[in-house]
Amino acid sequence: MTTAVKEPTKTAVMKALVYHGPGKRAWEDKPKAAVKDPTDAVVRITTSTICGTDLHIMKGDVPTVTDGRILGHEGVGLVESVGSSVQNFKVGDRVLVSCITSCGKCDYCKRGMFSHCRNGGWILGNLIDGTQAEYVRIPHADNSLYKAPEGVPEEALVMLSDIFPTGFECGVLNGTVKPGDKVAIVGSGPIGLAALLTAQFYSPALLILIDRDDNRLQVSRSFGATHTINYEKENVAERIQQLTGEGVDVAIEAVGVPSSIDTCQAIIAPGGHIANIGVHGKPVEFHLEKLWDRNITLTTRLVDTVTTPMLLKVLRSGKLDARKMGTHNFALSDVMKAYDTFGNAAKEKALKVVLKA
Ligand SMILES: NC(=O)c1ccc[n+]([C@@H]2O[C@H](COP(=O)([O-])OP(=O)(O)OC[C@H]3O[C@@H](n4cnc5c(N)ncnc54)[C@H](O)[C@@H]3O)[C@@H](O)[C@H]2O)c1
Ligand SMILES: [Zn+2]
Ligand SMILES: [Zn+2]
Repeated sequence: MTTAVKEPTKTAVMKALVYHGPGKRAWEDKPKAAVKDPTDAVVRITTSTICGTDLHIMKGDVPTVTDGRILGHEGVGLVESVGSSVQNFKVGDRVLVSCITSCGKCDYCKRGMFSHCRNGGWILGNLIDGTQAEYVRIPHADNSLYKAPEGVPEEALVMLSDIFPTGFECGVLNGTVKPGDKVAIVGSGPIGLAALLTAQFYSPALLILIDRDDNRLQVSRSFGATHTINYEKENVAERIQQLTGEGVDVAIEAVGVPSSIDTCQAIIAPGGHIANIGVHGKPVEFHLEKLWDRNITLTTRLVDTVTTPMLLKVLRSGKLDARKMGTHNFALSDVMKAYDTFGNAAKEKALKVVLKA
């Protein structure tokens, strides 16, 4: 006869993409994400992706991200467990994870500035563990998750975690794109392309995309750009004068380097709006000596994701083809390879890489 031996309690583990300082990352075991606070939900990730910002982190540009952090702030998955005070979601719900976590209750949230939530903001894959993992803990789940609409493929839905709200809110809305406007978008990466697609909600007359990557410029044309300019081959200011006469009504900056803000200032028409989206690490020159009398408006913004419910409706209606942003597919467990591909975007002709669990 055998006596039952009590096994030592094992901590559940999961696989995750972990940052170990600049240039160092690994797909390794971590304790499985679990509910900590009553307002948390744990999501089992079924689709995730990598952001340009994750590459900034890998270069060591984002000092708030420390050794041991699981990266990723974009994802779709199934609710695995919920805290006792979560009201809007239950186990098994298919959900979109917002890149911005927000309590919905603080003064900033009440003003629609979820990005500056006093109890959240951009924390996923930054101050807390993120979505490039088998499971993720989402604080303030009621306000930070969205029910997945029926019939929308996950590889389209995941583009609404970050890039579409960002291109739309920071670029199109802040730039106040209107019917008939002449619009230039500087940078045709995923964010610039998301601005390009959502600017078309408003029927601008001209949509001019500027980049040096001929493949991305070609993609821009297929996504609705009326003109493209390769800034390494053509003089941007001269070409814009030819196309517009006086300059553009809206210049959307979607790069994050000083020269792209210089471009916006050189091509803006009187009364125009310059909408910055890029994350900048260096000071830029602001040419007030040229712009003081031109009645221009310059805006900056960290994405608030307040337009996510609206974008979900457009996505469900079939009027936004978000799926075409995904150019490469990988298994989530191949995320290390996916980083290599995404890190060589020009050579690999990559826009977004889709990671499937
Ligand atoms: N404000 C926000 O809330 C927010 C949110 C997400 C991302 N971002 C930022 O938006 C920016 C764009 O993101 P992405 O993922 O599309 O980046 P990306 O690096 O994939 O794309 C940038 C594109 O700009 C082009 N480029 C480089 N220098 C240029 C120049 N001088 N003029 C014109 N084009 C130039 C590159 O060839 C590339 O195609 C990044 O800085 C990212 O960190 C901001
Ligand atoms: Zn991002
Ligand atoms: Zn808040």
